Amino acid sequence: MKHILHLISSIQGNESYSLKLGKAIIEKIQDKYPNSTVEEFNLTDIQIPHLHPEVLRTFFIPEDQLTPQDKESIGFSDQAVKQLLAADIIVIGAPLYNFTIPSSLKAWIDHITRAGITFGYGENGPVGKVTEKKVYVAMSSGGIYSEGPGKTNDFVVPYLKAFLGFLGMTDLTAYRVEGLKVPGVKENAMKKAIESIEID
Ligand SMILES: Cc1cc2nc3c(=O)[nH]c(=O)nc-3n(C[C@H](O)[C@H](O)[C@H](O)COP(=O)(O)O)c2cc1C
Repeated sequence: MKHILHLISSIQGNESYSLKLGKAIIEKIQDKYPNSTVEEFNLTDIQIPHLHPEVLRTFFIPEDQLTPQDKESIGFSDQAVKQLLAADIIVIGAPLYNFTIPSSLKAWIDHITRAGITFGYGENGPVGKVTEKKVYVAMSSGGIYSEGPGKTNDFVVPYLKAFLGFLGMTDLTAYRVEGLKVPGVKENAMKKAIESIEID
């Protein structure tokens, strides 16, 4: 039995392909680990604040010195970190917007990246502290980026792999539903993506 955190960042509601692919991944996780619990966090339901000077300043104040106002400033960040650390498996819906991840997902990343909590620095450089997690990325895109001419602009999966790896989440598998705007490809894209899912 696992606890799964499903992050949704598409702005297309139930029509979203990354949402559907994320749900298909979760179904297969549940087949493998019956009775697993799922916590959905739709990042578009709220306005996640961009990092700003007050939040950044507060990130570095020791916990026992935080004022009530400081606690409010980092309330979202604290909650997001707690939710992340409680999960065994994280399924990240990552639609491709303008060659990168949606700004809501980037804002979430900015808030879960906390020196001393989710990463630190040791003698040999950075040390990720979010360990023993499995991450699945459900990426959707209008074009094709896993191969062919689009591959030079394939930033989403490499970025998530590199950055979440920096935080300690080194076990990441990405599934793609791609070519959703490409005639002759889009018709079969979802079926192909779902068939590619393997849970280890
Ligand atoms: C704001 C916006 C920007 C997009 N930018 C790109 C892009 O740069 N490259 C691409 O191939 N598709 C792009 N698309 C198409 C989406 O990747 C495609 O519609 C995908 O299905 C979105 O995921 P979703 O269905 O989960 O929302 C964009 C769509 C939107 C709404």
